[in-house]
Amino acid sequence: MRTVTVGLGARAYPIHIGEGLLARADLILPHLPQRKVSVITNSTVAALYLDKFSAALRGAGVEIVPVVLPDGEEHKNWQTLNAIFDALLSNRCERKSAIIALGGGVVGDLAGFAAASYQRGVPFIQVPTTLLAQVDSSVGGKTAINHPLGKNMIGAFYQPRMVLADTAMLDTLPARELSAGLAEVIKYGLIMDLPFLGWLEANIGKLNERDPAALAYAVTRSCENKAAVVAADERETGERALLNLGHTFGHAIETGLGFGTWLHGEAVAAGTMLAARLSERMGLLTHAEVRRMADLFVRAGLPVEAPSLGQDRYLELMGHDKKVENGKLRLVLLQSLGKAYMTSDFDLRDLREVLAGTAAHV
Ligand code: NAD
Ligand code: GLY
Repeated sequence: MRTVTVGLGARAYPIHIGEGLLARADLILPHLPQRKVSVITNSTVAALYLDKFSAALRGAGVEIVPVVLPDGEEHKNWQTLNAIFDALLSNRCERKSAIIALGGGVVGDLAGFAAASYQRGVPFIQVPTTLLAQVDSSVGGKTAINHPLGKNMIGAFYQPRMVLADTAMLDTLPARELSAGLAEVIKYGLIMDLPFLGWLEANIGKLNERDPAALAYAVTRSCENKAAVVAADERETGERALLNLGHTFGHAIETGLGFGTWLHGEAVAAGTMLAARLSERMGLLTHAEVRRMADLFVRAGLPVEAPSLGQDRYLELMGHDKKVENGKLRLVLLQSLGKAYMTSDFDLRDLREVLAGTAAHV
């Protein structure tokens, strides 16, 4: 087992990473103020892992309230959040009853928002079951639901007390979901970790084959990068925004196509390529570097061409981004491979060209 710490002073917490950790109730117990917890999951993950996880906790004397949600990004909304509150209240969950999220980013974001707001805040633990959740969404305390007008628009910052990432659970992940998680892994290389980008290029075949050692390394290195950024800028007043490379475009794709049509990671990959092409137009990246990025995404099974929603529709959707300040769009772009920056200083004509010409570029 490897442990990465998110250094937030009195609210610092561990991310435990390793094979078979789902059965390690002993790692969870110290973070429970009460021997009653709700386990929020979805129907797919429940069928695979809820019995095993519940048995481990029950064996340690913990009472479980299971809350099984429907599966899918299209359920990351008020109705599902309210169904969680219904279950917590009808099962008399108290302020000291922890909420445990057992699932991917959708379950984690919903359960985290429920934990932030139920009785004004209850202890929260993340047990991420997708690659994307293990490398990104379970760490850092962003919780949210979607609004029909925009992705992740309603939510709270609320840190978990611990993260338990069992990499063996990635064995059952559909290939398309594994690829989606790789988009966020590649993101760390692009924004802040050039050596990791090189490692990913050399090891993408092993990751696609789910080599346990390669996956464990990718999860650990990603969490180390994310933990460093979150510790430095928990509330995204500055550098945390760089974790959103490709996301302003990507969220527009997800909202524009309808939540759940493209996976989040797919939209991030295609969105990152749009950010790269804008960076190229601004003379920051060479064409060869943009090709290098596209090659890695393609080898990871990800799309590099964004859907053609139309320039105006893209701009309208991107205008709902949380980074918009005084009505002005701000984008995360690449200064070079391994170094991202945020700027509102780009030419709208360049952005329009990039949005207009996706199919022509790679
Ligand atoms: P997801 O939660 O929808 O999970 C993907 C699919 O895999 C689902 O069908 C799920 O049921 C299934 N699944 C989960 N674990 C499995 C397993 N071990 N074996 C088999 N199937 C399994 O999607 P995701 O990619 O994990 O998360 C995407 C969400 O995360 C988006 O809503 C995105 O906005 C959010 N997100 C949040 C943050 C954050 O910082 N909070 C960061 C990145 C993404
Ligand atoms: N996924 C972006 C962030 O956590 O800030």
